[in-house]
Amino acid sequence: MALAGMFLMLFLIFHLATNLLMLAGDGGESFQRAVAFLTANPGIKIAEYILFAAFLIHIIIGVLLQLYNYRARPVGYHKSIQTETSAFSRFMFHTGVIIFIFLVIHLINFYFIKLGWVATPEYADSKHDFFSMAVVLFRNPWYSAIYFVSFIFLGFHLKHAFQSSFQSLGINHPKYTPAIKVIGTIYAIAISVGFAIIPVYFLFFYQA
Ligand code: HEM
Repeated sequence: MALAGMFLMLFLIFHLATNLLMLAGDGGESFQRAVAFLTANPGIKIAEYILFAAFLIHIIIGVLLQLYNYRARPVGYHKSIQTETSAFSRFMFHTGVIIFIFLVIHLINFYFIKLGWVATPEYADSKHDFFSMAVVLFRNPWYSAIYFVSFIFLGFHLKHAFQSSFQSLGINHPKYTPAIKVIGTIYAIAISVGFAIIPVYFLFFYQA
């Protein structure tokens, strides 16, 4: 689960970097050039399979872990116990479910159109014209709000996930763990704020 999570965290850096090209102010030209480059690259197809396998492994083990925890203690503690565990760690399953729901909506909005599972909207030049799709999607305040709120929960999830993945791999050291926690916090904030800028930009600042 930790290894799959680490792969997903790397994907998010890559995905954010590509998507931030949407904000270049060139009508989506550099973003669409990056999309064309990635679409033409056969390695990306393999990376996509690995990505979906990582999502699947991560989700299945996450659900099993939650079921296991629930079976170990079906009746919650009467009084909330004061432990070292942060709210972020206690709500990993819940924030994970929110991210999963977001992901389903998100794949319908973009990826399923590329696959041809969802019809290409008439305003898009092709099923790869993700820039036009993003403009129309984020001009809708409801979609922008759904994405924005999801990114806040994504940040909460990542905040704990980062340090936890190192811990699960046995990397736990009085000297390095505090640094890992700081880097994890910076990573979580950078990813969630980075993604959140995109709907905000299209909703309030983008001029066609
Ligand atoms: C405003 C933020 C985001 C935008 C504009 C965006 C945009 C896109 C676009 C255009 C695609 C289709 C790319 C292609 O298939 O060539 C895509 C696919 C995908 N996105 Fe996002 N995305 C955002 C946030 C996220 C987040 C936060 C996650 C994960 C939690 C995510 C996960 C995925 C996955 C798994 C795919 C399918 C695989 C892929 O095409 O790489 N996206 N996204």
